[in-house]
Amino acid sequence: MSERFFAGQPSPDEIIEKTLGYTSWLEINLDHIGYNLQNIRERVGVEVMPVVKNNAYGHGLIPIVAYLESQGVNWVMVAKLKEAEMIKEQGFKCNVLNMDVLFTDAQYKNVVEKNITQTVYTLEAAEKLSETSTKQEKETKVFVKVDTGLNRIGVKYTSAADLIEKISKLPHLNVIGIFSTFQQRPEEDKTALKRLLDVDEELKARGIKVQFRSMSSSDSVFHNPAGWLEMVRPGMSLYGVYPEPNDAESGLELRQSLQLKARIEYTKWVEEGESVTYWGRFVAPKRMRIGTLHLGFYDAIPREMANKGKILVDGEIKPSLGSVSLNHYLMDITGVTAEKGTEVTVIAESGENNLYETANTAGWMTYSLLNHLNPMMPRVYLLNGEPVALLELV
Ligand SMILES: Cc1ncc(COP(=O)(O)O)c(C=O)c1O
Repeated sequence: MSERFFAGQPSPDEIIEKTLGYTSWLEINLDHIGYNLQNIRERVGVEVMPVVKNNAYGHGLIPIVAYLESQGVNWVMVAKLKEAEMIKEQGFKCNVLNMDVLFTDAQYKNVVEKNITQTVYTLEAAEKLSETSTKQEKETKVFVKVDTGLNRIGVKYTSAADLIEKISKLPHLNVIGIFSTFQQRPEEDKTALKRLLDVDEELKARGIKVQFRSMSSSDSVFHNPAGWLEMVRPGMSLYGVYPEPNDAESGLELRQSLQLKARIEYTKWVEEGESVTYWGRFVAPKRMRIGTLHLGFYDAIPREMANKGKILVDGEIKPSLGSVSLNHYLMDITGVTAEKGTEVTVIAESGENNLYETANTAGWMTYSLLNHLNPMMPRVYLLNGEPVALLELV
């Protein structure tokens, strides 16, 4: 299916032609995702289930799943039923684990019909899924979410074995995995892991064997090998981002996949003492040449970047000027070659305006920055330096 997806894309020349008309767009380097996936696989030596929830952390759901499938990925994980449906409607063969809760009959029906693997942690939901599967004469795979101390969702570890035993006896359901989430606190995480392993031991004693036990997101891929078990669920690391400063010291080499590009919309000179943007947030200390970009906090740029952004143009990092508007971001272009249409890099793959540094400058988490990228922004996908796919929602 992934071949069909890439074969159906516009040609590299057509994609390049389109980008000439974009005011801002995201460029996603699929080779870097492949590099990160390979390094994670080699490090953990167990099944890797990439987390593609939230529009693949802003990278664009369907092209990312297509690429991951081409790299032999068997499982992906989503947060919303809609995402699972979109993946299955494209005809991808990989398993999709849906973490979303189901409310309506139609949702249960869709899960079964589309062979989506469903997260359950109550008997009521499992019974409903079993009934729906029985009606459709299909078997539905489930993962049971166990709460080992995070106290978010899931069946509490103390009653997990009893619930899973009951679920495993329901017709047309297959309990393929149990999973839980660490708190990302080393001492508490040891306890959490032990709780999940104890649930599994108890299940084995009752003759129930699950194929996958999973606890690890990126943090544990970096720092906690004991938590890898049969399956890990990386999000940020797959996209090449170290969320915390000490993550890079783990020895896992990653390459950031995403860049945010824009084209200069308009250029002008301002005189010494003139103010620019709302509330006069920047006052020119000398005569300056300014470039405006037609993107703002609607698209991706945190308002906290006022006067702090670093934008790459003509091989030089230049500062952003003034407040960030809903649709505008201004920059200094004094002394560089930049005209209307010149391409600039607002978030680069590396260096002082990479994703980590940009988030840091804004006082945001890298997670927040990635998960606030406007889905309407066009996304261009590169393989071997060539554009191979395009995602345009408008
Ligand atoms: C249950 C679950 N597993 C894994 C992940 C991936 O986390 P990370 O991006 O830190 O790897 C998430 C993300 O929030 C999650 O909710």
